[in-house]
Amino acid sequence: MADETPGTTRRGFVVGAAAAAGAAVAAGATGWLLGRDGDPTTPDAGSSPVAGSSPDAAPSPETTALPAAHRRAGITWPPVPQRHLVLRVLTIDGAAGLDLPALVAAAAPAPQPADAGEVTVVVGYAPVHALRLWPERASAASDLPAFANDAAGMISGGDLAVQVCAETASGARDAADGVVAALGSQVLWEQTGYRDAPTPHGTARTSTGFVDGIVNPRTAELLEAGVWTDAVHRDTHLVVRRMVVSADFGAQPVEAQERAIGRSRSTGAPLSGGGPDDDVDLFAKTADGRLRTPTASHARRAHPSHIGRPLMLRRSYSFDPPVGAGLVFVACMNDPQTFVMTQRRLDEMDDLIAHTRTDASGCFFVPGE
Ligand code: HEM
Repeated sequence: MADETPGTTRRGFVVGAAAAAGAAVAAGATGWLLGRDGDPTTPDAGSSPVAGSSPDAAPSPETTALPAAHRRAGITWPPVPQRHLVLRVLTIDGAAGLDLPALVAAAAPAPQPADAGEVTVVVGYAPVHALRLWPERASAASDLPAFANDAAGMISGGDLAVQVCAETASGARDAADGVVAALGSQVLWEQTGYRDAPTPHGTARTSTGFVDGIVNPRTAELLEAGVWTDAVHRDTHLVVRRMVVSADFGAQPVEAQERAIGRSRSTGAPLSGGGPDDDVDLFAKTADGRLRTPTASHARRAHPSHIGRPLMLRRSYSFDPPVGAGLVFVACMNDPQTFVMTQRRLDEMDDLIAHTRTDASGCFFVPGE
């Protein structure tokens, strides 16, 4: 298969690009990481972890210990996601007849200034292309169905999704501009996003004021279980959703917001007890027999145990809509059905999600090695 040609894997291309800028055209190239000096490099290049992309946070020991094979630029790496996101969903004229992986491989972004930190680019392929290019590996690829809180004018579709992350907004934008221009594409929809200063655990507060990304797969075992499609290629599916939380959510008393989430707004700690990093205890009850994690709370409704699936990896960014709070929901998983089944549960009942509207959405296959 094209993506298995020796020397043209994503990693091979990235190393080659550093040595002979742009000379290699690699099938299967799906992402880049530009090092601090602007040289394209691999997430595991050299022995020093690229930790500290957010200088004010020490990544947790478990993420810096992540084996090299599981460090994927823009997905699991850097361990503390960069501060800025540019997400663009693109259409390309005649895409079905093009060698998209070759186009993508030739679209490596130009180096960015050092203050942009690690600049990561993840490229995802629409299901229709993924099924054509990687029929076996991408057999689970599928578009998302409609959900309860989708906006009337929902934007979906597109040929490729490009997710660029950097420590500076301009670095992310310039790199994204370069990729989009090199692909000869049109932008179907786009959204910039930011992450607030990281917590000591590498998570961040979203524009709702709550810390997000606490429960996430951070070990090789959990990534194998829920994020990579298999242990050989480590492909994944990228779900992106542009969501607005209406102003009435934040207008509620803090206690009501906390009951809607199932966690403390100030610390992130579960209402069921424990510290900011702990899982919610779905069974914990008050002295008078009430569930500490309320029935309609988001943490309970979204809990993967209900659907018998492993954890998806959430790596979302905030944005500021004119009214309310905005979240570019970004998640990677080995089967898009994990998202579909979770979202269906949130549609049925969820005191956070009932206040949301999603107006742009997509699911894209991201080939690995
Ligand atoms: C505006 C949209 C959303 C906001 C503001 C939001 C916020 C949060 C917050 C604050 C938490 C608790 C902290 C954590 O564990 O990270 C959480 C957990 C979670 N969310 Fe969301 N979320 C949103 C949408 C979604 C969607 C669309 C899904 C998937 C369909 C989802 C899936 C999850 C999962 C799986 C958890 C972990 C639950 C657990 O196991 O404890 N979220 N979210």
